[in-house]
Amino acid sequence: MKTILFFILTLSIGANAQSFMMNPYGRQNTTLLNGKWNAIIDMYSRGEVKKFYQNRKPRSKTEFIEYSFENGLRLDVPGDFNSQTPELKYYEGNIWYQRYFKVKKKPSNRQFIYFAAVSYEATVWLNGIEIGRHEGGFTPFQFEVTDVLKEGENDLVVLVNNNRRKDGIPAMNFDWWNYGGITRDVFFIETPSTYILDYKLQLNKGSKNKLSGYIKLDGINVAQQVEVSIPELKVHKTLAADENGLAAFEIIAKPQLWEPDSPKMYDVKFVSNGEAIHDKIGFRTIELKGTEILLNGKPIFLKGVNFHEEIPQFMGRACSDADAAMILNEVKALGCNFARTAHYPQNERILRKAEEMGITIWEEIPIWQGIEFTNPIILKKAETMLREMIYRDKNRSNIIIWSVANETWPTPARDSILSELVSLTRALDDTRLVGAAFNNAKFNKLTSTFNMNDNLAKVVDVVGINEYVGWYQPFPTEPENIKWNVANNKPLIMSEFGSEALYGQHGEADVASSWSEEYQENNYKKNLRMFENIPNLSGIAPWVLFDFRSPLRCHQSNQEGWNRKGVVSNKGQRKKAWYVMNQYYSETK
Ligand code: GCU
Repeated sequence: MKTILFFILTLSIGANAQSFMMNPYGRQNTTLLNGKWNAIIDMYSRGEVKKFYQNRKPRSKTEFIEYSFENGLRLDVPGDFNSQTPELKYYEGNIWYQRYFKVKKKPSNRQFIYFAAVSYEATVWLNGIEIGRHEGGFTPFQFEVTDVLKEGENDLVVLVNNNRRKDGIPAMNFDWWNYGGITRDVFFIETPSTYILDYKLQLNKGSKNKLSGYIKLDGINVAQQVEVSIPELKVHKTLAADENGLAAFEIIAKPQLWEPDSPKMYDVKFVSNGEAIHDKIGFRTIELKGTEILLNGKPIFLKGVNFHEEIPQFMGRACSDADAAMILNEVKALGCNFARTAHYPQNERILRKAEEMGITIWEEIPIWQGIEFTNPIILKKAETMLREMIYRDKNRSNIIIWSVANETWPTPARDSILSELVSLTRALDDTRLVGAAFNNAKFNKLTSTFNMNDNLAKVVDVVGINEYVGWYQPFPTEPENIKWNVANNKPLIMSEFGSEALYGQHGEADVASSWSEEYQENNYKKNLRMFENIPNLSGIAPWVLFDFRSPLRCHQSNQEGWNRKGVVSNKGQRKKAWYVMNQYYSETK
């Protein structure tokens, strides 16, 4: 009960976007506002001064307007703008999006505009009136427009800015393309005056036959009846929401548990006031036993891979079901039961598809290397991103680990902020594990041992190690002779390892600068031999599934703006290292 209230009460604090509704994909009265939008490139950020959001037309013979949305650039939504026209490939700045949409207002209803994500900052106007702002490129936000909406044609304008910023999350420098734009779905949603804002349904921690959850109403008279039903389990519960619109419940039922090899999902329906929301939910337990991770009470070895939310073939953000299927089919083909959706909450289509396909997920917020931890605004922004991520995905049974950071250097400010984020994660969701990825393990030549002394490792459940032995540091000795003494009382996941190779380039297997498939192949083999010595190893995830775009990768012939650590090339070709991993996973239980 306390967790539920804490969850709901705390979400609406922070970003000035309202707390968004759960699962627009499973709701009835939704209209996708995807498609071609008009756009203006506003390089000098003049648009707000010039009031582009008014979308004005000349009203007199003497008046003229020096901007218009019509007859110019048209951009696909959802989609990043960088991959849509060569001029925008390297663009960082302001882009104004605009479209009209028609509505037939039902007087007693409420209306919302829901953005699944906009990178990096969005300011939104409807019919010339500002309805809100949101910062953060990877989580949803919504605005209620009931009072601003007009019968008939409405004019929606979104200013998108993807400038990197020192106090941003991520900050100024990160190893992926800074895609900007309305990168995910946009919905126009109509609801009854009192509607289901949120719901949660999961197996209780450590239980196999007790489900618990809640339905949260938002509106004027929220103390009313709601229903939850799981037909296949013959569950149909009618509940009375309290004065806060909250109906918490427990259900005794014996669901077939969600497993990577049998990702059982149940149709669930949440009803109130004639509104019905459909969802597909799996039930499983995830716990720790010493250094083991237990899924449904049984130890699981996480056979994973990392991937970015990018389709290398068209050098752009993944945003459709087909994109999700393309990426996840490759994850499955490699032999994985686990993936790390690096380094930010990826779109809901990917997470839901992964749940259907039996792929467990490590999900994280983009606290990546050089974050300005001494700046007090950072904690606030990070908390908002963490809340939005956990809120959006709390019903996904395949998400087993929430991660608060990737490769951050230990400082007092970092330690305190990240420890706060770890506690917040537990307060928001005590049914999953909390982790972080570290790159500060040190090799001690005298003892031939990797050690790590990091306060944050003391507070997380699972320690992820990013270590590029054979690339950023050569093998100090034979793999078999390398010992590991890192967080020995906890599960350790080798969350990143690997090296670069240009597909089709062949050369010496022991020369890194050959950028050859043979070097990468050999390096993978050596790492896998080294992993045998890690006593608390409970999973591995090579960096990375596909070559991906990064402005940090400037070797003109071997990289050309691509991080070449993929086991699959940017054209979808499997490198020799792919077969090493595929064989390893086929032999690993
Ligand atoms: C880091 C980081 C990745 C990066 C990788 C690399 O470990 O987490 O985001 O791409 O190393 O250097 O290739």
